[in-house]
Amino acid sequence: MSKTAKPDPIRSIVIAVDGTAASGKGTLAKKLAAHFGFAHLDSGALYRLTALSVLEKNGDPSNEADALKGAQTIDFNRAGDPAIRTDIVGKAASQVAAIPAVRDALLDFQQNFLAHPPGGSPGAVMDGRDIGTVICPSAAAKLYVDARLDIRARRRWTELKAMGIRRAEQDVVAELEARDAADKSRPVSPLKQAADADLLDTSDLGIDAAFAAALALVSPKVDGALKDRHRG
Ligand code: DC
Repeated sequence: MSKTAKPDPIRSIVIAVDGTAASGKGTLAKKLAAHFGFAHLDSGALYRLTALSVLEKNGDPSNEADALKGAQTIDFNRAGDPAIRTDIVGKAASQVAAIPAVRDALLDFQQNFLAHPPGGSPGAVMDGRDIGTVICPSAAAKLYVDARLDIRARRRWTELKAMGIRRAEQDVVAELEARDAADKSRPVSPLKQAADADLLDTSDLGIDAAFAAALALVSPKVDGALKDRHRG
């Protein structure tokens, strides 16, 4: 049996933020964590670090042995390294993420983070693709963040430009579309909205408006969970 099928033993208050690439989920997750005083983990960084490790060893991100070795040799100190934010690493991250052995190798780290949020915080916010569906189905609050493809591509294009990477916008559109299709169609832990997740479409929202909308959806659930904790 794959480890990804094991029940999650998480008792802390978890906000799961899943969604498509460049939907704004990372920014929202960070702001939610700051608002509630919760720990935050960008799970995509784990797949990106795995991909970086494979590429730096001249490995093949779609090869199971290479990808698993990458997951086992992640350098967490590089989570803030701009090198993991390039589109080449993003594409390779999507490839390693489709390999069940890689997902299994990263599962414990993610569930431990949620069960024991760093800094003794009562809760954690994690963003990714399968947080509400696989990593923590019992999360107190779940958001599924999405936006129209053209809007997401413009955001990613602007991000890349700020990093000094100039790309034709239509290439960014095509890459995002391909990556979402791969993430949604893979057999293991595909990207999908959990049945109990709230959908937040950020297409026509700036950061402040998107955060206000996220907070309106999440706050009653988090407040309820905090009250239950104090009672229990
Ligand atoms: O969110 P991101 O663009 O940094 O994610 C990079 C890739 O990692 C994405 O294409 C899919 C994969 N990923 C995943 O499969 N599961 C997660 N929980 C997070 C990311």
